[in-house]
Amino acid sequence: MSSPLHPLTTSTDPIDPTFVFDFRAYDEPDSADQRWSTWWDVEALCRGPEPRPDWVVTDRAAVDTELGILKTGKEADVFLLERAVDGGPSVVMAAKRYRSTDHRNFHRNAAYTEGRRGRDTREARAAAKGTTFGRAVAAGQWAGAEWQSLKRCWALGLPVPYPVQIDGTELLMEWVSVDGETAPRLAQSRPSPAVLASYFDQLREAMATMTQHGIVHGDLSAYNLLAAGDRLVIIDLPQVVDLVGNPQGMDFLLRDCANVCAWFRSKGLDPRLADEQALFSDLLATAF
Ligand SMILES: Nc1ncnc2c1ncn2[C@@H]1O[C@H](COP(=O)(O)OP(=O)(O)OP(=O)(O)O)[C@@H](O)[C@H]1O
Ligand SMILES: [Mg+2]
Repeated sequence: MSSPLHPLTTSTDPIDPTFVFDFRAYDEPDSADQRWSTWWDVEALCRGPEPRPDWVVTDRAAVDTELGILKTGKEADVFLLERAVDGGPSVVMAAKRYRSTDHRNFHRNAAYTEGRRGRDTREARAAAKGTTFGRAVAAGQWAGAEWQSLKRCWALGLPVPYPVQIDGTELLMEWVSVDGETAPRLAQSRPSPAVLASYFDQLREAMATMTQHGIVHGDLSAYNLLAAGDRLVIIDLPQVVDLVGNPQGMDFLLRDCANVCAWFRSKGLDPRLADEQALFSDLLATAF
């Protein structure tokens, strides 16, 4: 009996049962600001942790559309990106794109990475195995480092954007918004006294959890905190420091405490509450 022919072939090759018609190869999205969703292009380790929020769009037919730039930074630019299926689900995400794959001159490099390798065994295993992710971490690439920190903090229940995926130097994460607008940075917000006090409580609680797990943000300030309505969200985590493994871990923690306390004091929070030495000792007392 002769094999049936695949509709697109004229030869007598038998049907490949694993064949999936790749409509993407024939039908490019129309606009220069669009691409096919990259969700299925990246390996599983480069997709966000489970349980995945139900707003994450994973359809093969989804298209990514650039909505514009949110902010240019020294090492990275942040864009808004919509991932949507025609007539189906859609989501707006923040796309943080690091400028280059070569971060050897990154100013935060040396002091921050000390003591990093080896502590996280999964990270060490990945580096040893030479996976894409492992190579990125070993090379000190900051997109990979921020991905790692976001996943770790998310898993601990910390208020950070959900990390959706990493593809090379592009990190896609939850867009932190209020009423359909990008949440302002804490530095640009004008919280009422009650909200100010609540933000400080939230921050102290998040810092306590981080300290207990040996995680120091390393660049914490009112510029790397977003005021999302009642909620405070911590962002910008590529330089996360190991409290114990890094010889300067304690210095970084104290500096983080000083930065945030100075801001809260300047906005009128009771200086006995927003006191860096008190905060620093409280954090260490709950951690050890
Ligand atoms: N997930 C997000 N949701 C909403 N806005 C975001 C998000 N991530 C980043 N932003 C916006 O983009 C800005 C820059 O992001 P981030 O601080 O992570 O990058 P950066 O390159 O370190 O920038 P900078 O050099 O200004 O610190 C943030 O201050 C914030 O306004
Ligand atoms: Mg920043």
